[in-house]
Order: sequence, then structure tokens, then C-alpha cells
Amino acid sequence: MKEIIFLIGFRAVGKTTIGRALADRLGLTFLDTDVLICEKKGATVKAIVQAEGWDGFRRCEQEVLRGLVDQSRCVIATGGGAVLHQHLWPLLKEHGYVVWLTAEPDILCQRIEADSISDTLRPSLSGKAVCAEVREILALREPLYRETADIIVDTGKLSVSDILNKIITNYEFVIRNS
Ligand code: S3P
Repeated sequence: MKEIIFLIGFRAVGKTTIGRALADRLGLTFLDTDVLICEKKGATVKAIVQAEGWDGFRRCEQEVLRGLVDQSRCVIATGGGAVLHQHLWPLLKEHGYVVWLTAEPDILCQRIEADSISDTLRPSLSGKAVCAEVREILALREPLYRETADIIVDTGKLSVSDILNKIITNYEFVIRNS
């Protein structure tokens, strides 16, 4: 039985916000891979990348993701680049249901620039300006999100409650029919 709900999607799409609310609604534990990475390293994402580069961050992210197969009855918000570890997702999907949260690039740009945590959580991936980077990296990753997801939910047009209801309705259908 798929006892984990994974949330994937681009930076600032709302994975942590929706993940916490979903876990509360379902009475499940909430985990956030970025938090697990920062706890493992004892540093912010920005400091990890400054010290070890993005390669160092991705190595730790891969270790954290691999360790999630032992989890159960939880909602897990993943970092926007978690889908880069494509070799891990067939195994993770044996244990979990994957929800891809989407939003228009302009909304993502606004959220990243407005979010105070972006400075320490979201160092530049490309050296480009935020909105140019969003469009470039999103276009590269969309095929990976699409390949990995069991369901797509557009967060830009729905309320948190509607997003939760859509996820839960589809998740319960999958569980009933698995
Ligand atoms: C990243 C997204 C971030 C964080 C890190 C890398 C990415 O998490 O994992 O900055 O590669 O898009 P959020 O998606 O929660 O912002």
C-alpha cells in the first residue's frame, strides 16, 4: 500500500504549505526534504551550496530521498530539484503517491521574490535573474515532473481547501483500487 504522499513541483509552488495542511487533514506526519538535508548538514541550503556546490547539495538530497523508502504514513514535501534523481523515483513510487503541484511561471517568480526564506533556501541555480531562471529551469524540468507524477494539481487557481480536496479524492481512489 502507498503509505507516503510525495509533493513535487518547482520552487515556491507551495509544497510545504500544502504538505503541512494535507498531513494535518489526514492525521499523517509531515516531512520536508530540505529540512532533513539542512539538519543532516547543520547548514542552510545557501551555506551547503557555497561550501560544496550544487553537486554537494544533490548528493545529500539523493541520500535523504533514498532514506525515505523506510517511511510510512507521512506527507513529504520535496525540493524543486528532487525529480533530478530519476533513478530513485521508481523505488519511491512503490511506497508513495506523487502529487505534482504546478503554477504559472509569473506566479512562481512573484512567490520566490516575495518569500523571505528564498535567500537561504533558494540560491541561484543558473546565475540568471529570478524570472529568467524560473522559465529556463521549469522548461527543463517539466518532463521530469510529468514522468514522476501520479496527479497534477494547479495551485494557482485553487484555494488550499480545494487543492487538499482534489489530492485526497484522487489518493483515496488509488488506495481503494490498489
Ligand atoms: C531547489 C529547490 C529548493 C531547494 C534548493 C534546490 C531546486 O526547494 O531544494 O534550493 O533545485 O529547485 P523548494 O522547491 O522548496 O524551494
